[in-house]
Amino acid sequence: MDILQEIQNTSTEFQSRLSTSEPEVLAQEYLGRKGKVAQLFKHLPMVDPEQKGNVGQALNQLKQEIEESLNQQNHKSVASNTSQDLPNIIPPSLDQLSQEVGHLSPVTATMFRLQDILGSLGFSVVTGPEIETEYYNFDALNIPDEHPARDVWDTVWVSSTDSQKSLLRTHTSPVQIRHMEKTKPPIRIVAPGRVYRYESTDATHETTFHQIEGLMVDTTTSIATFKGVIKEIFSKLFDQEIEIRLRPSHFPFTEPSFEIDVKFNNRWLEIAGAGMVHRSVLAAGNITDPAVQGFAFGMGIERIVMLLTGLDDIRYIHSGDLRFVYQLGIQKN
Ligand code: DAH
Repeated sequence: MDILQEIQNTSTEFQSRLSTSEPEVLAQEYLGRKGKVAQLFKHLPMVDPEQKGNVGQALNQLKQEIEESLNQQNHKSVASNTSQDLPNIIPPSLDQLSQEVGHLSPVTATMFRLQDILGSLGFSVVTGPEIETEYYNFDALNIPDEHPARDVWDTVWVSSTDSQKSLLRTHTSPVQIRHMEKTKPPIRIVAPGRVYRYESTDATHETTFHQIEGLMVDTTTSIATFKGVIKEIFSKLFDQEIEIRLRPSHFPFTEPSFEIDVKFNNRWLEIAGAGMVHRSVLAAGNITDPAVQGFAFGMGIERIVMLLTGLDDIRYIHSGDLRFVYQLGIQKN
C-alpha cells in the first residue's frame, strides 16, 4: 500500500463528504480514537526510515486540515443556531485536545507549606489589611514618627481623607497588634501576606513581595521555645535536620532581636528576622501581665523560593512568564 496515496485519498474523500454529512459524524469517523486518521497513524512505524519524515508530515497535515474544516463547519452552524441549540454544537473534535491543568505558583505553594508546618505546631492562620494605618504599621510596633528605623521600611503612602495616615503595609508585623488587641494569651498565630516597599528593584529587591509572620505569646514562652520552634520549621521546610544560629540584630519591636541563619548545603543563609516581643508592643496589644512573654519572627517568601530553587533574580517570580513557573516544577500537576 502506498501510504502517501492513502492519505491523499482520505483527504479527498473527507472533503467530498463535508457538505453532506453532519460534522459530529465526520469527527467521529475521521478523528475518533479508532477513526481513519488514527488508523493511518498506525502504519507510521512500518514506513521506510527515509520516508518517515514525509509521511509524518502528511499525516499531521491531514489531521489539521480535518480539524480546521470541522471547526469552520461548527462556526457556521453556531451562527445559524438559536442559543437553545448551543449545548449540542460543541465540536466533538475538541474532546481530543488535552487541557492544561492549573497549579499553584511557587510563592503560594511555599506559603501554604509554611502554614501547614506552623499549623502542625498549633499556630492558626490570621490575616490583616494590605492598606494599613501608620499606627499599626509603625507606631504600635514601637517605631514612632521620626524614628530613624522608619527609613528601613521605604513606604508607599496612600492618600486618604481620614485623619489617620494610610500606607501599603511594609511588613506583616502589624497583624501582631491587630490580633493581640482582640485576643488574650495564649496566642499562636501565623500571618501570611503581601507587602509593599517604595524602592528600586534589582535581583534581590521587589516593590511587592510576600512575608509570613509568626507570633507566640504565653507565660511559658522563652528563647528556648523560640529556638525549638524555628529549628522545627526549617527542618520540615527543607526536609532535613537543619542547623540554625541566632545573630544579634535590631528591630524596634523586639528585645532582644535576632537574625536567624540556617545552614543549607553547607552555607549559612540569613532567612528571617525575629526576637522576643518588646514590652511596649505587648502593651499596644493590651497585654500587660509581666508573667507573659512572646516571640515573633518574619520572613520573605520569595527569598525562600529562591533558596529552594537556586533562582538568582527575584524579578522572575512576578514576571508572569509561564515558562518560568513551569520550570520551577513546584507542585506541577
Ligand atoms: N517585620 C520585619 C521586616 O519586615 C521582619 C521581622 C523581624 C518580623 C523581627 C518580626 C520580628 O516579627 O520579630 O523586616
